[in-house]
Parts: sequence; C-alpha cells; structure tokens
Amino acid sequence: MAGPDVQTMPLHGLLIDRFGRVVRKLRVSLTDRCNFRCVYCMPEDAEFMPRDELLTFDEIERVVRICAAMGVDTIRLTGGEPLLRPGAAEITARLKRVPGVRKISMTTNGYMLPHLARDLKRAGLDGVNISLDTLDRERFKRIARRDYIDHVYAGLRAAEEAGLAPIKINCVVMRGVNDDEVADFLRWAREFPYVVRFIEFMPLDGDRIWQRRLVFTMEEILERAREVGPFEEVTPDRASPARTFRFLDGRGEFGVIASVTQPFCDHCDRIRLTQDGRIRNCLFAVEETDLRALLRGGADDAAVERRIREAVWAKWAGHRIDASDFVRPERAMYKIGG
Ligand code: 5AD
Ligand code: SF4
Repeated sequence: MAGPDVQTMPLHGLLIDRFGRVVRKLRVSLTDRCNFRCVYCMPEDAEFMPRDELLTFDEIERVVRICAAMGVDTIRLTGGEPLLRPGAAEITARLKRVPGVRKISMTTNGYMLPHLARDLKRAGLDGVNISLDTLDRERFKRIARRDYIDHVYAGLRAAEEAGLAPIKINCVVMRGVNDDEVADFLRWAREFPYVVRFIEFMPLDGDRIWQRRLVFTMEEILERAREVGPFEEVTPDRASPARTFRFLDGRGEFGVIASVTQPFCDHCDRIRLTQDGRIRNCLFAVEETDLRALLRGGADDAAVERRIREAVWAKWAGHRIDASDFVRPERAMYKIGG
C-alpha cells in the first residue's frame, strides 16, 4: 500500500483516496427489502425502512451523475432485492444514460427475473449476479428460508433468454451447510453459460451467527474443485474481488471471492450508496456519510461532490476480519447493498 496520509484531498479530477486508489465502481442499493431470508444475510423478522427514507430515482440519478463526472464508470444495482423496488428497469435505463457510465449490472435473488429480465435488457442492463447457494430443494429452504428454488432456476433461464450477460452465480459457502456441494455446483454450471463464484462467508449476517469456523476458505474450495478436473488461474484483474479459474478442458470458469482469508482491499475500486442515501466507503465501514440530508437540503452539485470526495478520502487501508481488533459493522448485508 502507498505511503502515509500526507497529501491533501484533490478537489477536481478522479475520485481518489489517501492511498491512491481510484473509485471506478459504485454499488447502488435500491431497497433494503427482500422476499428471501438467507441465513447469512437477513433475520427472519427483518424490519424495513419506510418508503420516504429511500432515495428517489431523481436523487439516485443525481448522485450517479456526480460520481460519473469523477470517473466512476460501472454501476451495480443491489439491495436487499433490487427488483422489489418498483421501477427497477426505469432507474436502470436512467442510469445507463448518464454520461460516463459504461456498464450497469445487478445482484439479484432471481425471483422476479421471469417477469423483468426482458425489460431490464431493454433498459440497458448488462450482467446479472444471481444468488444460489445449493442445488438441493430442502437445503435451499433451510438457507433462504423460502421454498423458492424453482423461481431461481426460472430466473436464471429468463436471464439467459433475455440475453443478459454475463450471468454469474453467487454461492456463499458455509462449513457444514453447503461445503459438500462445491464440486456438484461446478459440474452443473459447466453445462450452462454460468460462472459460479464461491464467496467466503463474511460477518455481515443479520442474525449474527458468523463464526470464523463457519468460513469455508478459498484453499478448501479449490481443493474441492480439483475433484472436478484440473484448472488454471486466469490472469487476474486486480480490481476484481474474485480470483478466476478455468478448467483445462475448456469447459467452464469459476471464481472465488476470499474476502476473509485474502482480502482484496489494496486494489479496491468501489464505494456504496445505501438505499437511504449514505456513502459507505467499505463494506465493513463503521461510519457512513449522509448524502441524503444534503440532497434534500438544497445543496448544489459542488457541495455534494465535495462530500463524496471526503467520504472516499477517509477510506481506510483495509478491513481486518481476520484480526482480533475487527469491529463488526452495525448494518447487515441487506441494509448495506451487497
Ligand atoms: N457473506 C458473504 N456473502 C454474503 N452475501 C450476503 N450476505 C453475505 C455474507 N454474510 C452475498 C450473497 C448475495 C450478495 C447480495 O451478497 O451472495 O448474492
Ligand atoms: Fe435477500 Fe439477497 Fe439477503 Fe438472500 S442474500 S436475504 S436474497 S438480500
């Protein structure tokens, strides 16, 4: 990591932090609501925000416009479940038209895709990441706490038929819960144009069940993947949290997101905008920057830009999940915008 914090914050140009990292990606949460209750994310009795706490589409578009003018070129829509926000396709289209925005993708549970995939494609959505942690119906019911596995399969097909690409599958691996499915998942995904990405379980669950021993590590995931066949690592894109691997027989690619055992903070190029208009400079940040008050208080673009720059400038070198002084963030994943 670059030197100590001796420079001063630039007032123009790229959105940059004290360590020289440039922000290129913005994750925008459209809602904290979800119709699933994945155990690693949301408590069964989750409470959601009143509607008027959410940023309006005009407010979201304004923040994206200001960020894009500072070099942000990639947007990911998240939640909660972003497709539960009425007008999700409309906001997608609006953001895709913002000058400077090149790519827009979405992380979704897939449930609404049979209804919305075509509209989203027309709106300019590029790729989707769909959450699926097991191929077993009973197990799905235990993990997502809803009997919706067929809806997710239908969502995957709908995404493919609509031409959304790439289609990635997010699979959170938890020891003793679904770690025995890594190889099955890979064999299954090789039959489809899906890239599975195994994600280490992070301490962001609403029920606070996370424990270090539940983390099934990248090392262990790769060991399971070897049962399927030999593979090699694809040249890394340093800004991507996933390390990508390709089977030598040319059939299939997969990724591993080792947020716990191999944090990628040094090359992190993203920030988050929560559904209620706060900037989070890190998934694990314990402090947030409120933009909504500014947006609703009549601030001009220059003031909003300055607040965003300050939020990024304050970004720390990295989280320390594996360290003893790690402080768990207050917000669970669904309130942050996975
Ligand atoms: N650990 C790892 N990944 C998580 N996600 C949600 N909660 C967690 C967690 N505690 C991921 C899911 C989902 C995305 C929104 O965030 O894979 O696809
Ligand atoms: Fe909903 Fe996604 Fe959280 Fe599961 S991980 S409860 S699908 S927001």
